[in-house]
Amino acid sequence: MSGIGDKFQQETKYEPSRMPRHRLVWDSKPALYKEYPEAQKIKLPSFEPNQTMSLDQTLRQRKSIRDFQEKAISKDQLSYLLWASTGIQRIEDGYEYRTAPSAGALYPIETYVIVNDVRNLDAGVYHYSIKAHQLEQLKQGGFRQEIAAAALGQGMCGAAVVVFAWSAIFERCKWKYGQRAYRYIYLDAGHIAENLALAAVSLNLGSCEVGALYDDRVNAILGIDGTDESVLCMTVVGAPA
Ligand SMILES: Cc1cc2nc3c(=O)[nH]c(=O)nc-3n(C[C@H](O)[C@H](O)[C@H](O)COP(=O)(O)O)c2cc1C
Repeated sequence: MSGIGDKFQQETKYEPSRMPRHRLVWDSKPALYKEYPEAQKIKLPSFEPNQTMSLDQTLRQRKSIRDFQEKAISKDQLSYLLWASTGIQRIEDGYEYRTAPSAGALYPIETYVIVNDVRNLDAGVYHYSIKAHQLEQLKQGGFRQEIAAAALGQGMCGAAVVVFAWSAIFERCKWKYGQRAYRYIYLDAGHIAENLALAAVSLNLGSCEVGALYDDRVNAILGIDGTDESVLCMTVVGAPA
C-alpha cells in the first residue's frame, strides 16, 4: 500500500544531485514567538525540584501512565514541566536557546495547556509564553469532557490534572527547509514530548503521550486555524493512581 506519506518520504529526501538552492529571505523570517497581547497573563514561579532524581533512575522509571489520582499539582510543578519541556535554557550571542533541540533553531512548536486541576490556577485553556515564562489565559472553564472527546474518547485526558497540547506554526520551519520542514517539525515535537515525560517522572508524576486525536476538534479548543498552525500531539500528566 502506498500513499501520500510514501510520496512525501521520497520527495523530501536530500540527495547530492538534488539539493534545494533557494536563498533565505531574512525580511520574511517568521516571528519566533507567538503572543496573545490581549490575554490575561499569569506569571509562573521559577522552580527547581529540591530532590533531583538521577537521569539513570528517570530513564528506568518512565513509562506511559494512564490512570491518575484526583490530586492537583502545584503551579510550581506546572512551571517546571513547561520550562523543562521547552523553556529558555541559555542565551548565546543574543539568541535564546531552549531545553529541547530544534532543527535550525527555528522552534516551530507552540505549547498550550488545558488545565483541569492545578492549585491556584483557574481551569481553562492557556498558551505558554516561552519568552516571558508565563501563561496567557485563552479560555476559562472546565474542558475535561471536550478534550477527552477530542482525543477519540480517551478518558485519561479528562482525568489528568493537565493536558499539554503541542501545535506547529509550519511556516517557521518551511521558511528555511521547504516541504522537508515537516520531517523536522514532527521530530522537534517528539524531543519536547520526551523532555516532558522525563521531567514528569523526576517530579514523581506520570504522563502519557496522545497521538490519537481529532485534529480539528483539538484545534477548535485551542483556537487555532488548523492550516497555518495545527495540533501535532498531546501529553496528559498527573499523579499516578
Ligand atoms: C507519538 C505517540 C503517540 C501515542 N499516542 C497514544 C495514545 O493516543 N493513547 C495512548 O494510550 N497511548 C499513546 N502513546 C503511548 C504508547 O502507547 C506507549 O508509549 C507505548 O505503548 C510504549 O509504552 P511505554 O510508554 O509505557 O514505554 C503514544 C506514544 C507516542 C510516542
